[in-house]
Amino acid sequence: MKIKISPSILSADFGKLNDEIKSVEKYSDYIHVDVMDGHFVPNITIGACVVSSIKTRLPLDVHLMIEHPEKYIEDFADAGAKVLTVHYEACKNLKSVLVKIRKLRIKAGVSIKPKTKIEVLKPYLKYLDWVLIMSVEPGFGGQKFIENSLDKIKWLRKNAPKLDIAVDGGINEKTAKECVKAGANVLIAGSYIFKAKIRKSSILRLKG
Ligand code: DX5
Ligand code: ZN
Repeated sequence: MKIKISPSILSADFGKLNDEIKSVEKYSDYIHVDVMDGHFVPNITIGACVVSSIKTRLPLDVHLMIEHPEKYIEDFADAGAKVLTVHYEACKNLKSVLVKIRKLRIKAGVSIKPKTKIEVLKPYLKYLDWVLIMSVEPGFGGQKFIENSLDKIKWLRKNAPKLDIAVDGGINEKTAKECVKAGANVLIAGSYIFKAKIRKSSILRLKG
């Protein structure tokens, strides 16, 4: 599978967001947008109105780290999300949330936190276009990659050969290689790309 790169704007300068996105657009496949509500995670970022002001030719991969994600699906689809990822731990009825996302003709994704077992996703695989494995505790950039994520990726690739498997948190040149070997095909990276001296080279290194 082709390896796709999704730079996470959490580590970018929000004061000049569109310029920051331009600096990585040419070498990337998606732009990763972290939405946090201060409840599901202990941090707050941006909402749909800021997402709608993002200008890029790349599809937006929007990662909702919020409670009651079902209430905000239309808002983020209208704001330009092409992949919309909700958290397994935040959904009372995951199937209906995924069906609702697909009805809007965008990709339906789910994410699990590091302590959630991957097997919980088995009944939902047919409703999913994208699974995002959190390889750090969600909420902040710049944390260390949690190794048990690799076994989750392996399990998922075995059970869903065609699924987009994204990994988010602590991705650098070394962990990227391990994730790709385990079966991931989308690498989400914030600090490794945006804090790099030369962003283009950091992205090319992730692609391997
Ligand atoms: C964390 C976010 C990530 C974050 C990753 O909750 O979901 O997207 O930006 O940051 P790095 O790549 O620095 O670990
Ligand atoms: Zn994220």
